[in-house]
Amino acid sequence: MLNELLKRPVIPVIVIDDANDAVPLAEALLAGGMDVIEVTCRTASAAEALARIKKALPEMLLGAGTVVTPDQAKMCIDTGISFGLAPGLNPDTVKYFQDRNTLFIPGVMTPSEIEQGLSFGLKMLKFFPAGAAGGVNMLKNLGGPYASQGVQFCPTGGLSLDNMNDYLSLPIVSAIGGSWLATKQQIADKQWGVITQQVKDALAKATEVVG
Ligand code: 3PG
Repeated sequence: MLNELLKRPVIPVIVIDDANDAVPLAEALLAGGMDVIEVTCRTASAAEALARIKKALPEMLLGAGTVVTPDQAKMCIDTGISFGLAPGLNPDTVKYFQDRNTLFIPGVMTPSEIEQGLSFGLKMLKFFPAGAAGGVNMLKNLGGPYASQGVQFCPTGGLSLDNMNDYLSLPIVSAIGGSWLATKQQIADKQWGVITQQVKDALAKATEVVG
């Protein structure tokens, strides 16, 4: 699954208030050429949104974000997600994903947290909140000791069309994520055309630095 995910260097981080918007939103992403989605467990409608996308659009690589407890992990995995992410590294959540044989990318922002991830055998880690935690400069510095360990990062938090390639061009970064691709407000306002265009713009930009 990690290899499948790595074919998609840009991941939209979605906050969805109304599950009725889930499928139209996913269709807007697909129309822009993006067949991956991270639905965050930040709203009461996250489980229903995941279930609807899973049923209506099986071609979408379906992920859950903000999975901070084993209970949330259970809900998401039972819904049929292919991968999960979290802002932090909760050992209980990591173990739950590993027991269910499902890809999990926990968040880190310090060397000690990276080493905790490595102790679980995790090489793909989310770097969050990327901008506030030192951005590109911090990642370059973390690459010094940890690139040789095979660590790869997915930075999120503060990314945009303007700075995404600063991150994606780092050898230690294999994917990036952000909510700018489909903001909560744009989803609530059903601005599907705007979202499709944002996705197209991001994917076109990514091709400048990844194949
Ligand atoms: C995340 O969980 O990855 C972040 O909320 C995304 O951060 P952004 O809203 O700054 O893109």
